[in-house]
Amino acid sequence: MSSDTNTPPSRPDCKAGPQGLLIRAAGLNDGEALTALCNLPGFRAGTLRLPFQTVEQTKKWLENKNTDSLNLVAVLDGELAGSAGFNHYTGRRSHAAGLGLGVHDDHCGKGIGTALMSALVDAADNWYALKRLELTVFTDNAPAIRLYEKFGFEREGIWRAFAFRAGHYADALSMGRVRL
Ligand SMILES: CC(C)(COP(=O)(O)OP(=O)(O)OC[C@H]1O[C@@H](n2cnc3c(N)ncnc32)[C@H](O)[C@@H]1OP(=O)(O)O)[C@@H](O)C(=O)NCCC(=O)NCCS
Repeated sequence: MSSDTNTPPSRPDCKAGPQGLLIRAAGLNDGEALTALCNLPGFRAGTLRLPFQTVEQTKKWLENKNTDSLNLVAVLDGELAGSAGFNHYTGRRSHAAGLGLGVHDDHCGKGIGTALMSALVDAADNWYALKRLELTVFTDNAPAIRLYEKFGFEREGIWRAFAFRAGHYADALSMGRVRL
């Protein structure tokens, strides 16, 4: 007896990114490299990181992160080139997760963001059975918005004065991807 629903996929539909790129789970040993990534000016501008993040803060986060969440890093030629993950909610929001990602300032535009998003979406759809992925993105972050729309995220609304960034309050877009 066979049916389509019981047939395992032969391989995940993940975009590979540049040659030599490895996507793997973030580990405790990534503390220093992740700290350096978070302290890059471009990375900080697109995220909610504060300047001068310490290795201790990063290691504490790595040690205490929710075990039902997924945290990935992108490694290019042995160097950490990006990170991404989702935080799986609980209770009546257990069908949903909040997503975030960032790529090293020197490696943007090479397809690494696409490869990380592909791995996250594959895990969310095919392994975590998540129905809703959500995120916020600054309204002027065109590459990120383009990336999210490419993966089926839709614009849901604007958060006015969402966060303080480089001396000014910046608006953010709420985006969601729903697969019921
Ligand atoms: C947003 C970010 C993750 C994208 O990662 P990336 O590795 O550069 O993305 P990719 O190379 O895979 O490109 C993604 C898409 O953005 C597009 N893009 C790049 N620059 C763009 C721009 N200025 N305007 C519009 N689209 C742009 C690319 O063409 C590509 O789309 P395509 O495949 O249709 O051509 C990366 O720029 C980043 O980390 N920025 C700093 C941190 C950040 O903003 N994180 C997001 C928080 S919400």
